[in-house]
Amino acid sequence: MSRGILVINGPNLNLLGQREPALYGNQSLGEINQELERMASASGIGIEFFQSNHEGELVDRIQQARDDFELIIINAGALSHYSISLHDALRAVNIPVIEVHLSNIYTREEFRHKSLISPVAVGGIFGFGALSYRLAFLAACEIIKGREA
Ligand code: DQA
Repeated sequence: MSRGILVINGPNLNLLGQREPALYGNQSLGEINQELERMASASGIGIEFFQSNHEGELVDRIQQARDDFELIIINAGALSHYSISLHDALRAVNIPVIEVHLSNIYTREEFRHKSLISPVAVGGIFGFGALSYRLAFLAACEIIKGREA
C-alpha cells in the first residue's frame, strides 16, 4: 500500500520562521507541514515529512521511499545547487519528484541559478514562499489522480 506523498526538506529549512524572514517568510516548517497535512487529509491522500541537515540522511530517506510513496516533494535547500548524490538518489528511486523553493532562486545570487534537482523533477515551483509547498501539493494530487485514472 502506498503511503502517498513524501515531503522532504534539506539543510537549514528547520529554521524557517526565524531564518531571514524577509526572504523565507514567518511560517515555521511545522506550520507549513500542518497545512499540508490538513490538505492531504481533506483529499484522502497520505503524507509524511522528513527534514535533515545531512546529505547522507536525505539520500537514505529517498532510497527508503522506493516502492513506498507515489510522489516526492522536495526542497533540498542549498544542496539543490550542488548535490550530485541527491540528484542520483532521486533518479534511482524512479518516483515522480516536484521541486520546491520558497524564494525565486533565479533572481538571487548566480550560484543559486543552477539546480541539480530540476533535471530529475517533473516540475518545480519557486518564489511563492510557503505557498510554493501548497501549490506543489496541488500538482502532486493531479499527478497521483492521473496515475490512478
Ligand atoms: C531555498 C533556496 C536555496 O538557495 C537556499 O539555500 C535555501 C532555501 C528556498 O527554498 O528558497 O536553503 O531552497
